[in-house]
Amino acid sequence: MGQPQQPDEEQAGAQAGAQAGRPPLGVGMVGYAFMGAAHSQGWRTADRVFDLPLRPVLAAVCGRDAAAVRTAADRLGWAAAETDWRALIARDDVDLVDVCTPGDSHAEIAIAALAAGKHVLCEKPLANTVEEAEAMTAAAEAAAARGQVAMVGFNYRRVPATALARKMVAEGRIGALRHVRVTYLQDWLVDREFPLTWRLRKESAGSGALGDLGAHIVDLAQYVAGEPVIGVSALTETFVRERPLLSGASSGLSAAGGGELGPVTVDDAALFTGRFASGALASFEATRFATGRKNSLRIELNGEKGSLAFDLERLNELSYHDGTEPATHAGFRRILVTEPDHPYLEAWWPPGHGLGYEHTFVHQARDLVHTIAEGGRPLPSFADGLQVQRVLAAVEESAEKNSVFTPIAS
Ligand SMILES: NC(=O)c1ccc[n+]([C@@H]2O[C@H](COP(=O)([O-])OP(=O)(O)OC[C@H]3O[C@@H](n4cnc5c(N)ncnc54)[C@H](O)[C@@H]3O)[C@@H](O)[C@H]2O)c1
Repeated sequence: MGQPQQPDEEQAGAQAGAQAGRPPLGVGMVGYAFMGAAHSQGWRTADRVFDLPLRPVLAAVCGRDAAAVRTAADRLGWAAAETDWRALIARDDVDLVDVCTPGDSHAEIAIAALAAGKHVLCEKPLANTVEEAEAMTAAAEAAAARGQVAMVGFNYRRVPATALARKMVAEGRIGALRHVRVTYLQDWLVDREFPLTWRLRKESAGSGALGDLGAHIVDLAQYVAGEPVIGVSALTETFVRERPLLSGASSGLSAAGGGELGPVTVDDAALFTGRFASGALASFEATRFATGRKNSLRIELNGEKGSLAFDLERLNELSYHDGTEPATHAGFRRILVTEPDHPYLEAWWPPGHGLGYEHTFVHQARDLVHTIAEGGRPLPSFADGLQVQRVLAAVEESAEKNSVFTPIAS
């Protein structure tokens, strides 16, 4: 006769039973540096926190250096390692391809994965050009008819406080929208000696602060406002036009360089105003030259009846001013967005035990698994990513034409 089971053995047994009862979703990820690590965190954790209809399996990760990708697979929790993304897509144990590479390979990998019958998650910006984004969207629409899902990684939609802000705007709590003010400020390029990584070359990144940070704030502003930007007037600038060439590999925002200089071929900063479909006005600022600002994303919405404000550096909070309250005691108040009824909070910690940056990737994995299992349109879809790409293209066109107001193509 066996020993009676200990409680955690019983729990482990119950979990294994629940795991076995759900179909697996094999994930294959291309790229394993900054976003690769963040997405791995999302895939590893989502199933341990939320009740998911499918069981994500970290099947294989792909990079170009065999030894480095094997090390990354072990550290990040992937079962297998591949050195060619085509081989990753062809694997029978891969149902979903997660694209975490620079923008110059998004279209080729995503379109091939969709053609092979796989679901796709693609990092932002969707592509480096409108033409690539159009081709990806056409491929996603054809694949949707076959039951496949294609989503873009605009993860700031998955902060509980930004999701709550969207809900409050949709419920009419701030009334007719008048202003959206949004900034995304970093400072990692202030140092003139920072080397020429892929993010500073048009052929690999498409654009600079605009496509990197601007894409996020255009998507977030439209998501929270619940309506599209219809035109923009813009200024862009490249403050440091030559930088040292890379002397080794780069990862995320870290790199080493030295000696010879090469040209920076993207913008360092982009400033633009915009008009929403409802007539509300917007201002956007995206820069890597805001000395002292590390990852400062702020959005404020002013409506006829109230205002909302969010700051990524205080991401468990949402500020709300209810303009219908008597002026004697009205004012901005802090909503601590950690209640079980707040978006995504039903499965996390007790109220007041806050979340962080990495949880946005857990929520992204959760939402994508539900969309795949239940059908329906992924949010944000490739079509949403294409619309953001068109806003970015209009910003570049406006900046080239002395800030002339430039409508967004449809
Ligand atoms: N959602 C966000 O908040 C966020 C943040 C940072 C970056 N991004 C986006 O994520 C993407 C990747 O950025 P990152 O910061 O992770 O870059 P990174 O430089 O840290 O990593 C890029 C990875 O892609 C790999 N790679 C490049 N070309 C490849 C190829 N042909 N085949 C296989 N692997 C290849 C590199 O080896 C590396 O592992 C970009 O589109 C970027 O805009 C999104």
